[in-house]
Amino acid sequence: MSKTHTEKKAIGHAECLVIGGGVIGSAIAYHVAKEGRSTIMLERCIPGEGASGAAAGMLAAESEEFSDLELARFARASRDAFPDLVCDLERLSGISVDFRTEGFVTPFRSEAEGQRRWNAANIREDDSPIWWDARELARRIPGLADQVIGAIYRSKETQVAPVQLCRAYAGSAAVLGATIWSGTHAEELIIQDGRVCGVRTDSGFFSCDQVVIAAGLDSLKLLEQIGFDYPLYPVKGEVVAVSLKDHPLDYTIYADDVYLVPKQNNELWIGATSLPHQYDKEVTVGGLKGLLARASAWLPRVQEASFIRAWAGLRPQAAAERPFIGPVPGVEGVYAAVGHYRNGVLLSDATGRAMATMLKGADAAGLGISKFSSELLKEESL
Ligand code: FAD
Ligand code: GLY
Repeated sequence: MSKTHTEKKAIGHAECLVIGGGVIGSAIAYHVAKEGRSTIMLERCIPGEGASGAAAGMLAAESEEFSDLELARFARASRDAFPDLVCDLERLSGISVDFRTEGFVTPFRSEAEGQRRWNAANIREDDSPIWWDARELARRIPGLADQVIGAIYRSKETQVAPVQLCRAYAGSAAVLGATIWSGTHAEELIIQDGRVCGVRTDSGFFSCDQVVIAAGLDSLKLLEQIGFDYPLYPVKGEVVAVSLKDHPLDYTIYADDVYLVPKQNNELWIGATSLPHQYDKEVTVGGLKGLLARASAWLPRVQEASFIRAWAGLRPQAAAERPFIGPVPGVEGVYAAVGHYRNGVLLSDATGRAMATMLKGADAAGLGISKFSSELLKEESL
C-alpha cells in the first residue's frame, strides 16, 4: 500500500511555504520570516527570472493615476515604505537595489491636457504634484522637444533595480531564517480533510501548515487544481536599454505613451509595449521602433543614443483588473497573491506585509484591502 504524503518523509517543513520567487513571493517570504515564522520559498528557476526580471522598477504610485481608491492607497503605502525597506534589505542582504529618489516628470504637449491632468491630480489629492512650465523644464531637463509646454513633477515617486530588489528580498528572508529552494518546481498542493498539508515538487515533498501561491502567471495552474477560478492572462511588454551621450537623465520621464528610466552604468531604459494575450518573450523590430520613436519625440537626443540591449516580459493581468491577495476559498490554509499586472514591484512591500498579517489571522477588511479578497470577487460574479 502506498504511503500518504504526511507519512512519507518530507524534505522540508515550514509553517509557511511560498510558491514563486518573483518580487511578490520574495517580498512575502521576507515579511513572513521577519515575523519569526518558519518559511520556505520554492522557485523553479532563480528569484527574479519571471515578469519581475523584465520590469522597469518604477514605484509609480501617483503617476499610474489609479482610479480605484483602495488600490491607490495601497500603492502609496507601499511606495512610502521603500526608504526604510531599502535600508533594511541592503543591510541584511548586502545587495544594492539602486534606489533612486529624483522623482518622475509627466510632460505634455497640450495646455488643455496638462491643465486637465493637473486638476485631476489635485482632486485625487496626489501627494506631491508640482507644475513645471516650459522654462523650468528646460532648466531641469535640457534637450526636451520644443513642443513640450510643461509637466507635472512628482517628487515622491522613486525607482529601483527590480532583479536586485527581488534578490535582496530573498537574501534578506534567508538571513532571517527562511530557506530558499531555487530550481524547485511546485507541482501539486496536497490537501487532506479540506486543508493543505504540503506541496509535491520535482525535488520531493515539503510539508507545511500554510501555502501562499505567488507564482505569477503560472499561479493559474495551481489555483485551478484546487478549484479556484481566477483568470489570469499575460500582457507582454518590451523594453529597450540605451546609453545617452553627454548628459544622462536624472529624472524618470513618465509620459502617457512611453517612459524613460535612468539606471546604473549610464543606462536609460525605455518602455514599454503592452500586448495582451501574447505568451512569447520575443522582442520585435516593430515594438522597438515604436518605443524609440515615442521616446525621441519627447527627448530628441535619444536618436543619438547607443543601443545596449532589449528584452520582454509577461505582466500577470487578472480579468478582475486588480490583484488577488488573501485566502483562497474552499481549502483551509491556502492563500494567493497574484495578478499584480503593471505594478508588482511597486506593490511588493504592501503585499508582503498584508500577507504576513493575514497568515496570522487578520482579515482583508481590517487591512483596508477588501477589494482584493475573494468575498468581493464572488459578489461581483453573481
Ligand atoms: P513573477 O515575477 O513572474 O514571479 C513568479 C515566479 O514564480 C517566477 O520566478 C517563476 O519562475 C516562479 N514559478 C512559477 N510557477 C512556479 C512553480 N510551480 N513552482 C515554483 N516556482 C514557480 N511593475 C512595477 O511595479 N514597476 C514597473 O516599472 C514595472 N515595469 C514593468 C515592465 C515590463 C516590461 C513588465 C513585463 C512588467 C513590469 N512591471 C512593473 C510589472 C511587474 O514586473 C509584475 O507585476 C511583477 O513582476 C509580478 O511579480 P510576481 O512575483 O507576481 O510574478
Ligand atoms: N509599470 C510599467 C509597465 O508595466 O510597463
